[in-house]
Parts: sequence; C-alpha cells; structure tokens
Amino acid sequence: YYIGIDLGTSAVKLLLMEESGKICNIVSKEYPLFFPHPGWSEQNPQDWFAQSMEGMKELTKDIDRKEVAGIGFGGQMHGLVTLDENDQVIRPAILWNDGRTQEETEYLNNEIGKNKLSEYTANIAFAGFTAPKILWMKKNEPDKFARIAKIMLPKDYLAYCLSGSFCTDVSDASGMLLLDVKNRCWSKEMMEICGVKEEQLPKLYESWQVVGTLKKSIADELGFSENVKVVAGAGDNAAAAVGTGTVGDGQCNISLGTSGTIFISSKDFGVDENNALHSFCHADGSYHLMGCMLSAASCNKWWAEEILQTKDFAAEQAPINKLGENRVFFLPYLMGERSPHNNPDARGVFFGMSMDSTRADMTQAVLEGVAFGLRDSLEVARSLGIKIERTKICGGGAKSPLWKKIIANVMNLKVDVLEVEEGPSMGGAMLAAVGCDAYPDVETIGKKMAHVVDTVEPEPELVAKYEERYQKFRKLYPAMKDLF
Ligand code: XUL
Repeated sequence: YYIGIDLGTSAVKLLLMEESGKICNIVSKEYPLFFPHPGWSEQNPQDWFAQSMEGMKELTKDIDRKEVAGIGFGGQMHGLVTLDENDQVIRPAILWNDGRTQEETEYLNNEIGKNKLSEYTANIAFAGFTAPKILWMKKNEPDKFARIAKIMLPKDYLAYCLSGSFCTDVSDASGMLLLDVKNRCWSKEMMEICGVKEEQLPKLYESWQVVGTLKKSIADELGFSENVKVVAGAGDNAAAAVGTGTVGDGQCNISLGTSGTIFISSKDFGVDENNALHSFCHADGSYHLMGCMLSAASCNKWWAEEILQTKDFAAEQAPINKLGENRVFFLPYLMGERSPHNNPDARGVFFGMSMDSTRADMTQAVLEGVAFGLRDSLEVARSLGIKIERTKICGGGAKSPLWKKIIANVMNLKVDVLEVEEGPSMGGAMLAAVGCDAYPDVETIGKKMAHVVDTVEPEPELVAKYEERYQKFRKLYPAMKDLF
C-alpha cells in the first residue's frame, strides 16, 4: 500500500492506494486557520502533524499496517515554517494566502528588480511567496528571525517529523523565490538577499525521491514497519497534476480548492515575460506554468456559510438555470489576488444588482466570478501562444456539476472529469509508488492511473454569451483598483 497525504489549508486529506492504483480508503481531518489581522493567514504546524497522524491511523484501520510501503505528500505551497535549534516551531506558519508582505514584495520587485529576480529564480515576488515572508520576519520579528535553524515548507514539516530528514522537493521549493528553477538548485543571490544560509534550507530532491524511512517511534505508534519509505512529495498543484495525469507536454489541470489554479505542464523550461504566470518545476522532472487565484472554492464557502448561513451548497445551486444571462458580477478577491493582478489589497465586490436580483443570482455570480478569474490566467497563457483546448479538473469545487459547466463555457475548454477527484493525495501516493520502484517514472504512472470518466463540453451559444460577460468582467478590476 501507498499513502498520499494532501496537506491542505482547510484539512489534511489522506488516501490509501494499492500498487494497482485501486483506492482503498480516503480520510479527511480538519484543523483551524487563523486570520489574526485582515489579510493575514496562519496555521499551527503542530496541528498538521497531529491530524496527519490521526488520519493515518484511521486510514489504515482495516488493513495489515505492516503492508504499507511508502508515504508521499502534496502540500499547500509557499508557507513559511521556521524551527529553532531544538526543532521547536518558532511562530505559526505564514501561509500562501497571507498578504502582509506588501512592503517586502515591493522592495524585491522594485529595488532588487523584476529582471534580476526573474534571472535568479524565473519568477517575480508575490506577497504569498516565501522569500518576502522571510524578509518580513527579519524586519518585524528580529529575535525570532535570529533563532531560525531550519526553514521549510508545510509538507516538509511532516516529512521531517516522520523521518527526521530535513528535505524539500523542487516543485514546492519553486514557490519560495529562493530556487533557481531552471537549474533546480538554490539561488546563492536570493539566499544573500534574504539573509539566509544554505544550511538553514532543506536538501533538495525530485518529488519521487526517497528522503528517508520512518523514525522508530513513529512506526511503532502507527503500527507500520520501520522500512516504510518517505518520498519528498510535491507542492499540492504539482501533486494534483500527477494525480490527474497532467504529465508530459502541454497538458492542463484546473484545481478548485481553497485557491484556484490553472496548471500547464511543459517539457521545456519557459518563463512568461510579464511574470503573471509562475514558472515552476514539475513533479515529473519537467516544468510547468501556473496561474493562481487566492480565493476559489473559499469564495463559495464564504458566501454560503458566512453570509447565507448554510452548508448545503447543492441546495443553493439548484435554482440556477439561466447561465450566461446573469447581470450580477462578483470579483473574487476576498484575500487580495495573486494571478494576474498581484495585489494583496484587492477585495471582493458584488456589482450590478437591481431590485429583481435574487439570492440565486448572487450565488451564480460567485461561481462565475471564480471562473472569470481563472480565465484571466488562461488569457495570459493564450497570449504566450500556448494552445489549450481541454483541461482536467480536481479539488472540492469540482464536485459541483454546475460549476464545471460554468468553467467549460466561460473558458471555452473541454473539461475532463476524473474517476478520482482527490488530485494531490492521489498524486502523493503515486509519487510514493515511484519512489518504491513499483513504477519506472512519474509520467508512466500518471498516464496509467488517471482515468477520465466524463467530459463537459462547452456549448457554442453559451460560450458566446459568456464571452460578452467576460469582456465586462475584465473591465471591473482596473476601474476599481485605486479604491481598494
Ligand atoms: C499556489 C498556491 C496555492 C496553494 C494552495 O501557488 O499558492 O495553490 O498551494 O494550497
């Protein structure tokens, strides 16, 4: 058996897979997310570990636990986890959707300069990336900064607790703004700019590589063998791409999780000249381009749970039947926005209501706003000459048939639906299977195990209606930009 652990923002999702690819069990464990100031976003690494351990116990309760061979991860990216010399967590992790580092981001982009950053790392600075957070800590919490012995990303904290190996993988490290993405090694220039030394950074691996085996105490607690191999794993988007078979050249995957991403795999290294799309390493040994919106399924969750006070998303979506004709718009920038606007101060907006606007129109606007936001990143990819006609889809939001239909028509893409919607945890388990030599490489297992069971086709009439709506949507942000 192989275990995939998807360390998400709302919960850790664990998946148990047989070597054949058959899924035996799926478990999810929640933990709190803290917003100590508007735009800040933090979690306790100790909660991640505790819930992952509980999750693994529950996941394996019906099997012979000694048969577990490997563990792999998909993890929320960019989060800054810091440990002192006694391996104590210094402060809560600062997450990927935290917007506190505007000053540091501006310093990096304007004073170090986008050209230099792009030369060193293939990317520019965004508020959620790890390097600006390191600079923030250096300036605002100098005592804590001085105690840092180890810097790691969220899933690397799990690997460290489980195996004692201080490691990361190149796909996740790409989002730190400390990695020379093209050459898959740390950037000396960026370490110097951030005031960190190489020994404070984890050792780099490819995503399928084995970083160690379970510590004896952990193996005993779980009832697993000590020989269980721990592989480096990947950032959740690269792991999801593996899980959905988005491997090889020119494949596309959309993830509708707390964040919304559009991920385009590429055999060759490439950079978007305007850096609106991230240029990162893929978990299969190649590269990818990615646009990331900070609030996707979380917009729907916020709208339903906070505002409508319901958890029954399906009931809210049931009355929606006039696609392409909604007059209400929603700008989905509840946590600011990453791609393509790079503005942590942007905020959510409803626009265009009239006396006959209904609750269902507003719900529809939220779903459409996220689709329009993803289309913004797709347009950047199209402007680079990348031709995409179809995409895979995964993440919690992908459970809604209506949302998939809206996405297919707003983006004019054929949307392939997979048998297993748990992209990152499936990808994590697949990486473990490759690390244990059950499969020769990530591309082979990705192509073999991801099964498309349905395709949502765009409908020309609806595509035309949404095209008109999208052209209005894209004028709203520039008109409001100065008011946020
Ligand atoms: C990607 C990003 C998010 C997180 C979500 O750049 O920030 O997709 O990885 O967990």
